[in-house]
Amino acid sequence: MEKLKRTKVADLLKSTEYDKMVNVKGWARSHRGSGKISFIALNDGSIIHNIQIVVERENFDQDMLKGVTNGAGISVDGKLVKSMGKGQSVEIVATEIELYGTVDQETYPLQKKGHSMEFLRTIAHLRPRTNTFGAVLRIRHALAYAVHKYYNDRGFYYLHTPIVTGSDAEGAGEMFRVTTLDPKQPPLNQDGSVNYKEDFFGKATNLTVSGQLEGELGALALSQVYTFGPTFRAENSNTPRHLAEFWMIEPEMAFYDINDNMDLAEDFLKYLVQYALDNCMADLEFLNKMFDKQLIQRLQSIVKVKYKRLTYTEAIVILEKSGRKFEFPVSWGIDLQSEHERYLVEQHFKRPVILTDYPKNIKAFYMKQNDDGKTVRAMDVLFPNIGEIIGGSQREEILERLLTRIKEMEIPIETMWWYIDTRKFGTVPHSGFGLGFERMVLFITGMKNIRDVIPFPRTPNNAEF
Ligand code: 4AD
Ligand code: MG
Repeated sequence: MEKLKRTKVADLLKSTEYDKMVNVKGWARSHRGSGKISFIALNDGSIIHNIQIVVERENFDQDMLKGVTNGAGISVDGKLVKSMGKGQSVEIVATEIELYGTVDQETYPLQKKGHSMEFLRTIAHLRPRTNTFGAVLRIRHALAYAVHKYYNDRGFYYLHTPIVTGSDAEGAGEMFRVTTLDPKQPPLNQDGSVNYKEDFFGKATNLTVSGQLEGELGALALSQVYTFGPTFRAENSNTPRHLAEFWMIEPEMAFYDINDNMDLAEDFLKYLVQYALDNCMADLEFLNKMFDKQLIQRLQSIVKVKYKRLTYTEAIVILEKSGRKFEFPVSWGIDLQSEHERYLVEQHFKRPVILTDYPKNIKAFYMKQNDDGKTVRAMDVLFPNIGEIIGGSQREEILERLLTRIKEMEIPIETMWWYIDTRKFGTVPHSGFGLGFERMVLFITGMKNIRDVIPFPRTPNNAEF
């Protein structure tokens, strides 16, 4: 007989071609019943649901059947039939079962159900096989696709910005050094410092913290570009919202002012949420049921409301008048903490908030300076449960003002000549922002910790797998 072509579970569950012979491959989630008939719940990761395999046991090798336990990898030929049982549309009556790989139930870490998220992080090589991580990873994929679709449909070009760079885009100095020098015997300058001229790139280099500066170069030629790549920050913040390696989407638009920038940010966020509602409902329903009963409702409401826009200064007044005792006291000039951001969003306005015009001293050198001499045209989008999800700004396009700021902030100007050049040659107003991809996935999945929305999280003291 000719070998049957494999069909994925996602497609079989939609099929109405009853009595057709099909092949399905995957991992058994359970195998129960031992009399005449047993049932295998088979999952291949194409969809949250399993397909049920009906096994008339006398037709099969008994030792082989014993090997089909939770986690085993198998291939099944059989007849697709309408299911009599509740909860599934079709099932497969097996005619052939091939056992690819058995599982030692004594040592299989996923033998039991209901593991804690903390434990699952220690087995990141196996956790994609759980329902929860299957759902999260499928949603993550859908959102990555939606990002590209959104910008492609609007005439933005995807610009690949470098991962190894000689500059510090955010000027925060939280970078991972990239070097091929021997750590035991690096070449030294006269003054004892490391001589990076002898390093691979002939200079000191790091992993990028942001693709923005190169994104600006692209926007000042192609009008509208976006980057979507990994970024790295060596900040030692062990929080549920920080990763040392995370993905960022950074659109950059020539001829946009801060209001255009806010409009785009709000539209983009709503689009991603709507995309998940339209394309990931089975997974969202699972997460809603298991983790967060308000999830779907929250997503549906966030696409409808208008985000509240106000200045940092106005927000400080609200926080000061709130009567709340915050862990970090509030006064004009402070960098807002997650507790402040979440108070504004969750308690005060009860909707996403976009704060603008932050003090220049807590923001990066490239932001456009307001005429008050104190604030810059920054915009942060704050989300419920998350806090800051987007950071962006209109950019300082005036050469003299940019140079002043670079000097004030003591940024090594010799590493920035190419960026400064854009302000000399046909400078124009422009704006952009960065969306932390994992923070968006965190919001849309309703998970509680950012380590659970990226396949292999990188955090302080954790780079296994
Ligand atoms: O606010 P940030 O630092 O802005 C930038 O990097 C700008 N260059 C963006 C731009 O204007 N093109 O970071 C942007 C977003 C944050 O709002 C947050 O969502 C996310 O990136 N982010 C992190 N996500 C996970 N782990 C971290 N350590 C993050 N740091 C920032
Ligand atoms: Mg920020």
